[in-house]
Amino acid sequence: MRVAVVGGGVSGAAIVRALRVHGCEVAQHSRATGFDVLRDDAVSALAGADVVVEATGVATTSSRRATDFFTRSTRSLGAAAGQLGAHHVLLSIVNCTHSEVQGYGYFAGKTAQERLARQISPRLTIVRSTQWFEFARQNLRRMAVGPFALVPAMTIAPIALDAVATALADVAVAGPEAPEIELAGPETLTLWEMTQALPERGTVPVPLPVPGSLGRAFRRGALLPAADVRVRGPRFADWLARVEGTADSSTLG
Ligand SMILES: NC(=O)c1ccc[n+]([C@@H]2O[C@H](COP(=O)([O-])OP(=O)(O)OC[C@H]3O[C@@H](n4cnc5c(N)ncnc54)[C@H](OP(=O)(O)O)[C@@H]3O)[C@@H](O)[C@H]2O)c1
Repeated sequence: MRVAVVGGGVSGAAIVRALRVHGCEVAQHSRATGFDVLRDDAVSALAGADVVVEATGVATTSSRRATDFFTRSTRSLGAAAGQLGAHHVLLSIVNCTHSEVQGYGYFAGKTAQERLARQISPRLTIVRSTQWFEFARQNLRRMAVGPFALVPAMTIAPIALDAVATALADVAVAGPEAPEIELAGPETLTLWEMTQALPERGTVPVPLPVPGSLGRAFRRGALLPAADVRVRGPRFADWLARVEGTADSSTLG
C-alpha cells in the first residue's frame, strides 16, 4: 500500500514511522521536501498514492488565516485524493467543531476544514485526537514573548502523538469504513500542569487566563472527550520519563 503523508514536523514523522511498521510504502510531503500544498499540483505530487494523509498545520489564532489555510489545504488534497481514487485521512482535534470553542480562530479553521472535507472527499476518515503530549512544548514555542511563554488555561485529556500515529496508520491500512474515529489519553490534566512537569523548559511559563466564555469553556473541560472515545496510554508522566529522561511528575495529578 502506498501512502502519501502531507505535513512535516513531529506529526508527519510519527505517522511515517507508524505506517512503515505496517509495511506501507510511505512518501512524506511538505515545504521541506519541495511540496507546498497552497501552490503546487497535488495530483502529480501524490500520484500513485492509495491513501493521502492530511497532517498540515499553521500556527495562528486568527480565524481568517486558519480558515484560509485549512480549507485550501483540504481543497487541494481532498480533490487530489478523489482524482487518484485514494482514501483521504484527515487529522483533526476532538471537539474542535463544538460551538462553545469557535471563538478560538484555529478551531474555526479546523471546523471549516472538516466541513469541506466531508463535501469533497468520497472516501474520507477524520481521525480526531485530543492535544498531544508534545503540545506542551509546541505551545511554549508558539506562545513565546521574549523570555516568557504564555500558557492558556485549558483542561485536556492529552495523548501521546505516537499513539495517535499508530491508530491513524491502522485506519489507513483498514480503508475508509469508518467516517471518523476519536482518540484521547487516559487522564485529565491542565496544560499548566503538563508545562510545569517539563524538564528544561528554556523559557519562563506564564499562566494565560483566556478571557470570556471561550476561557471558561477551555477551563471547564470543553476539550475533554465523550465517554465513548478510544483511550490510549501511556500516562503523561510515564511518557515524559521515557522521552525526556528527567520528568518531574510531582506537579501532576
Ligand atoms: N498539536 C496537537 O496537539 C494536535 C492534536 C490533534 C490534532 N492536531 C492536528 O494535526 C495536524 C498537524 O498538527 P501539527 O501540530 O503537527 O501542525 P504544525 O506543526 O503546525 O504543521 C505540520 C506541518 O505542516 C506543514 N506545512 C505547513 N504549511 C504547509 C504548506 N503550505 N505546504 C505543505 N506543508 C505545509 C509543515 O511542514 P513544512 O514546514 O515542511 O512545510 C509542518 O511541519 C493539524 O491539523 C492539527 O490541527 C494537532
